[in-house]
Amino acid sequence: GDVAAAHQMSGMDMTGGPARPVTGFRGPTTPAPGGRVRDFTLTARTATVTLSSGRRISAWTFDGRVPGPPLTAVQGDLIEVRLRNADIAQGVTLHWHGYDVPSGEDGVPGLTQDAVMPGQEFVYRFRADQAGTFWYHTHEVSNLGVRMGLYGTLVVAPRAAPASGVDLTLPVHTFAGSTVVGDADRPLFHQVAPGTTVRLRLINTDNTPHRFTLAGTPYRLVAVDGADLNGPGELSRTGLRLPAGGRYDLAFTTPPGQPGQPVVLRVDDRTVALRLGERDAPDDGTVTTDTTAWPELDITRYGTPAPTPFSSGSRFDRRFTLVLDRGVSLAGGRLLYAYTVNGGAFPDIPPLSVADGDLVRFTVVNRGNETHPWHLHGHRVLVLSRNGRAPTGAPLWLDTFDVRPGEVWEVAFRADNPGLWMNHCHNLSHADQGMVLHLEYE
Ligand code: C2O
Ligand code: CU
Repeated sequence: GDVAAAHQMSGMDMTGGPARPVTGFRGPTTPAPGGRVRDFTLTARTATVTLSSGRRISAWTFDGRVPGPPLTAVQGDLIEVRLRNADIAQGVTLHWHGYDVPSGEDGVPGLTQDAVMPGQEFVYRFRADQAGTFWYHTHEVSNLGVRMGLYGTLVVAPRAAPASGVDLTLPVHTFAGSTVVGDADRPLFHQVAPGTTVRLRLINTDNTPHRFTLAGTPYRLVAVDGADLNGPGELSRTGLRLPAGGRYDLAFTTPPGQPGQPVVLRVDDRTVALRLGERDAPDDGTVTTDTTAWPELDITRYGTPAPTPFSSGSRFDRRFTLVLDRGVSLAGGRLLYAYTVNGGAFPDIPPLSVADGDLVRFTVVNRGNETHPWHLHGHRVLVLSRNGRAPTGAPLWLDTFDVRPGEVWEVAFRADNPGLWMNHCHNLSHADQGMVLHLEYE
């Protein structure tokens, strides 16, 4: 339509010309009343990056950085990101993981746009309607592209946020065996006075889950996948398993008067991800608590129940069942091992079809022996049950849910975002080997 055409025109000042949008579903071009325009330019390019360990890696970067520049906005702002590709020969796009943007801004090559090739650019625009912790990443050859470093964080503050304390966004990423937390080249100590309120936004950008522990203070898990949890209670000596693609926001107050005993965040029980305290005390053994035995939090039992717009008892307009497994598929006359959905592999899995306004129930069954972090684009799902048991804690709205071997998850969503969408395993190597299907609106 005209909006799409006008939108596209505005990006047409590069020598290579714009990458063509495929779908006409584009976003509003102005902020909400009181909001402002947040303009960013991200240039994808290859670079050599030095990790904080001193190790040098060849990376694919946005602006030469790993992760890419952090994008921040306030609810109601218009986010406008000009993506340029300097030299990523395979092409690049931007996908807003967990953000329910209009379909044409979703950054899926071959579905919502063409990949942005070297010398080209594409302008993404969407309203920052959801507050919370999100991330962006390329969706072209995404298994390779994300692994090589084409990712960054997106944090949207609530409109009326009292800015106080320390707010740290910590994407976790593994480069050839080295787990990197936050900026790849920065030290992990933060100087924080006793009694400071702290929010840690953990983001798993890898293909497999990470386990986090926080020692030195009780804390609360206040948001999952960018959505605040109702009535979160205090936790201590509890491990948190964060699925691939997922986000956890933790909140706590640093304990009074304990110099030398910083709060310590660990990843996978070994790597020290972050130390918060009054000074960078050497690790003298006081915080080397063995966290491996700490029990893992079951998020379906955490927080306090609250009303939801629909539930297991609702009348559903559509029901779909996805059986995830590994098997052989026939591709181009050859038998290949593939990760399958209902026995098929992409592109031979029939798309799911919904009508605007439908209430959709989704059952996801894992018959294989690997974990599949299932991810829907454009829609946040409400968890109805996991292995037949309804959540007893806070309602859980997720964009990525970890379906472990043998598990059955039932989730539901309102089809309220017309367009073309991907549905896939966020172990991107599984997606690469077939575990992808499309959701379309009739
Ligand atoms: Cu975070 Cu289709 O991806
Ligand atoms: Cu998988």
